[in-house]
Amino acid sequence: MSRQDQIVRPLSEVAYYIERCPHLSVRDYPESLRFPSMLILGIETSCDETGIALYHSERGLLAHALHTQIAMHQEYGGVVPELASRDHIRRVLPLIRQVMREAGVAFAELDAIAYTQGPGLAGALLVGTSIANALAFALDIPALGIHHLEGHLLSPLLASNPPKFPFVALLVSGGHTQLMRVAAVGEYELLGETVDDAAGEAFDKTAQLLGLGYPGGPALAQLAGQGKAGTHKLPRPMLEQMRKTGNLDFSFSGLKTAVLLLVRREAPDAAGKADIAASFQEAVVDVLVTKSLYALERTGLSQLVVAGGVGANRRLRERLDGAAAEAGYTVFYPEYEFCTDNGAMIALAGALRLGAGSVGASLRPERSPLGGLANMPAAQRTYAFTVKPRWDLSTMIL
Ligand code: KG4
Ligand code: ZN
Repeated sequence: MSRQDQIVRPLSEVAYYIERCPHLSVRDYPESLRFPSMLILGIETSCDETGIALYHSERGLLAHALHTQIAMHQEYGGVVPELASRDHIRRVLPLIRQVMREAGVAFAELDAIAYTQGPGLAGALLVGTSIANALAFALDIPALGIHHLEGHLLSPLLASNPPKFPFVALLVSGGHTQLMRVAAVGEYELLGETVDDAAGEAFDKTAQLLGLGYPGGPALAQLAGQGKAGTHKLPRPMLEQMRKTGNLDFSFSGLKTAVLLLVRREAPDAAGKADIAASFQEAVVDVLVTKSLYALERTGLSQLVVAGGVGANRRLRERLDGAAAEAGYTVFYPEYEFCTDNGAMIALAGALRLGAGSVGASLRPERSPLGGLANMPAAQRTYAFTVKPRWDLSTMIL
C-alpha cells in the first residue's frame, strides 16, 4: 500500500473542531499558527494488543501496525496479565521501527509521543508508558499520556466521513460501557454507564458459557448469525428504569446469568447454541440501541458515535442504522480496523490534545516563535511517569 493510500484523515480538516472549544483562546493567534504541523508517534499497550501508529497533523495517518496476543492467551481462556506485559516488551520496539520504516520517517522528525496511560492492566500500561517517556526524553520532545477511552471515542475522526462536535458517544468495549455527551476534545459528560459487566465482557463470558474460545465477542456474533433471535425471551436489563426515570445506566450480568440457566436447562446442541447466541446478542443490541436513541433525544443532539470493540458487531450496526434513519439521526463508526484497540486512535488523540493545548505553538523550541516546549506543562517535560489502571474519563478536561 502506498503512503498516500494509508492517509485516512488529515487533521487539518478536523481542526475547526478545536476552534469550537470555548476554553481555547486560539483566536488570539494568526491562522497559520493555529494548527501546528506535527508528527506524533502513538503507543497502545493497555491490554492484549500492541498498537503503534504515526499520525501527521496535516498528512493524516502515515502508518500503523498492530500485534494481537489473542493466540497466546487463547489456551488460558482469557488475558493473562503477566504474559501480556512480557509480550508487549517483546513487540513494542520492533513495531515502532516497522512503522517508522514504513512511513519513511526518522526519530529526529518526531514532535511528540502519545501513549495509553490508562485505564488497563498496570503491567501492560507500564511497557508503553516507560518506552514512550524514555524515547521522548532521548529525543527531547513531549510525552503525552492518553486516556484509552478518549482514543476510542475520537477514533471515528479517522474515518472518511467523520462526525462534528457535539455528539453522543456510545463506548462499548471489553472493560467499559458508557454513554457520553462529547462537546469537544476534552469535554466529556457521562450520561450513563454499566453498573456491573461491560457489554464486551458480557459477550466474552456468554461465549465461554457456550463453549466458544477467547475472545468470545466475535465468535459469539458469528454463531448468532446462524441462529434465530426470537427463540428465547431474555431480559432487557434496565430498560424499564429508563422508561420510568430516564436512567441511562446499563447492567449485563443478569443477562449472562439468564444464559447460564438456559444452557443448564436445555443442554443445547449446536443449533440450540446458535439460537441462544442470537437471542443473547439481540437482547444486548436492543438495550444499546434503545438507550443510545434516548440519549440523543435527551441531549437534543443528532449524531451518535459508536466506539470500542463491540462497535464492530454487525447486528448492532444494522439495528442502530435502521433506528437512527427512522428518527433522523446519523451514526458514525470507526473503520473496522480501528474499532478494537490500536495505536492510531492514541496518536490521533495525542495530536488533537497537543494541537489544542499548545495553542499554535510548535512543539520544538527552535521551530517555535512562542517557546515550544516551554509551553508544555511541567509534568510532560520531567518524564517522570505513572500509569492509571483505573481512570474516569469524565475527569479528562483539557
Ligand atoms: O475495545 P476493545 O478492543 O478492548 C477493550 O478496550 O476492552 O474491545 C474488546 C471487546 C471484547 O470484549 C470483544 O469480545 C468485543 O470487544 N468484540 C465484540 C466484537 N468484536 C469485538 N463483541 C461483539 N461483537 C463483535 N463483533
Ligand atoms: Zn479498548
